[in-house]
Amino acid sequence: MQVVSVINYKGGVGKTTITANLGAELARRGMRVLLIDLDPQTSLTFSFVDPEEWRRDLREARTVKRWFDSLRGDGPGISLSELIITPQPVNSYIADAEDGRLDLIASHLGLINIDLDLARGLRGTDEERDAGLFRIRGALAEQLHHRDLPDYDLILIDCPPTFNIVTQSAIIASDQLIIPAKADFLSTLGIDYLYGSVDKLIEDYNADARRFPDIGRPGIIKPDIAGVAFTMIQLMYQRPIAAHADAMSSVRALGLPVFPTAVREAATLFAQGTPRGVPAVLRERANSPAADELRQLTAEVMHALQPGRFAAMMAAAPVGGATDTVTALRGMSAREDGAALLHAFSLASLRELAAALDMSALGSGTRDELIERIVERTIGSRLNSEAIRRL
Ligand SMILES: Nc1ncnc2c1ncn2[C@@H]1O[C@H](COP(=O)(O)OP(=O)(O)OP(=O)(O)O)[C@@H](O)[C@H]1O
Ligand SMILES: [Mg+2]
Repeated sequence: MQVVSVINYKGGVGKTTITANLGAELARRGMRVLLIDLDPQTSLTFSFVDPEEWRRDLREARTVKRWFDSLRGDGPGISLSELIITPQPVNSYIADAEDGRLDLIASHLGLINIDLDLARGLRGTDEERDAGLFRIRGALAEQLHHRDLPDYDLILIDCPPTFNIVTQSAIIASDQLIIPAKADFLSTLGIDYLYGSVDKLIEDYNADARRFPDIGRPGIIKPDIAGVAFTMIQLMYQRPIAAHADAMSSVRALGLPVFPTAVREAATLFAQGTPRGVPAVLRERANSPAADELRQLTAEVMHALQPGRFAAMMAAAPVGGATDTVTALRGMSAREDGAALLHAFSLASLRELAAALDMSALGSGTRDELIERIVERTIGSRLNSEAIRRL
């Protein structure tokens, strides 16, 4: 199981959209995914659940607020697993996937005051209050590794656009972080600052872990940045406009990993009033470049998180998987990595991939020769995204 938080304290940069679409697409590909909505704005929750249903069935006792409230220690403790729901519309779209499932822990507007509420609960000497804060910050990490929690392949956490204690607890619980961003100058500065804040949080938390060895999960935390995902990119002649291209290069210059695929701006696709409950990646199968880009981004995220599983999945379902495979190969810099991925493929799948790459001369040859030539053709050679989309 991996825990991944989607963070950025800039608002409206596509955190929730990416979380919903990543989760749905990975579940369609057979993963067991749990989404957790930590934002009091509850947009992720309402991407999957009808507001009337939320009011009737969830508001009172089945949102993540109830769990955070229980951390104050003045009521009975509850377990996160009591809050899990399986939203119907989206799961009916992924019913064909072998083990795929998308579960959700809903949010609540009342989470907006949670920092104050939790702080009020901290009493005693400075030392005792520090210990209390340490326990609260680490509580989500502890719960997500509790034996009560069903077995998920991936837990994706949608964070609010702040760096409050709720966001901090998500970062502390995470193995990896995804940072959605718009490609403008201010966002570039924001990412640098965010990176600094995350680093400082990790350092402080690990120092406290040494101070309070008897509280929480033992061990030092070390969440990695899986990558920055650019969204809402404006294109001209199929390329990002100059201002966006500049901002994207300055983020790369910071040394942070950036996912190769950027999601274009597609106002109508994400407009209010589109059918609720089913994200664009599942809903829009044809003629929707932004939905294609979200699917490509999903392949890149999966490859970054679980390269072994990604290779096995590609090998099991090569038809229609050529795009993903090429995307993955393109994202690699080492030839050995590419060869390792391709070794999981059957000869027939390799031939299919060669055909998709328009390598007509590749019909003959041994497996190893075929792998060698596909690696030659893809690793380090950036195919343009139009060509990939045509595959
Ligand atoms: N690629 C896109 N093109 C156009 N609009 C988009 C795109 N992606 C998301 N949107 C829209 O932009 C708005 C903000 O997106 P979203 O809610 O995902 O951002 P967020 O970072 O989660 O915001 P917040 O910080 O408020 O939680 C939403 O109305 C969403 O539908
Ligand atoms: Mg959001």
